[in-house]
Amino acid sequence: MKKIRLISFSLSALFLVSILSSCASNQEQNKETNNKEEQKIEQTSKNEENITIEIGSDNFVSGEKIYNEKCMVCHQKDGKGVEGTFPPLAKSDYLLADKERAILQTLRGSKEPITVNGIEYPGNVMTVFKLTDQEVTDVLNYVLNSWGNNGGTVTIDEVKAARAKIQ
Ligand code: HEC
Repeated sequence: MKKIRLISFSLSALFLVSILSSCASNQEQNKETNNKEEQKIEQTSKNEENITIEIGSDNFVSGEKIYNEKCMVCHQKDGKGVEGTFPPLAKSDYLLADKERAILQTLRGSKEPITVNGIEYPGNVMTVFKLTDQEVTDVLNYVLNSWGNNGGTVTIDEVKAARAKIQ
């Protein structure tokens, strides 16, 4: 996890701004400051979700290795899968729509048939591997950010939380 950067603005700075603005005597001015403050808070919460994974980082390389060893046999080197048999991970609407579902799929596969990019795949086919939380995080971050995917990132805490749900 060490190279996954969490970009966030300092909340304490915002706190300071709010204290300073509450001291201002002119009400009109106060209103304006408050508006600006709201904008800043909005921006901050967006930025807090903005976790990035560095291509080429240790975690990314470890994710690629796990993918090549364990997932590639079905989902293929280019992530495109085999139509009708193994679903694609590259540009997969199913994968990109729901991170928690992607984590759960990696942890336990799917018993039900699923539809990926308009094509149905039967459940119960995917091999389920015993992966650590860190391995699940790394392989998914690799998959979410390869072959043109711009799927954001999962954190080890999200993996832990998903695992706790099914245990
Ligand atoms: C034996 C072949 C096989 C292997 C190995 C395999 N998968 Fe799958 N995968 C499937 C199939 C088939 C499905 C469709 C649902 C099911 O059967 O569980 C699927 C579905 C998925 C999905 C959700 C559907 C999609 O295409 O977006 C994800 C995400 C996924 N696999 C990730 C992985 C990861 C990560 C690994 C390696 C740790 C892996 N798979 C290994 C066959 C495989």
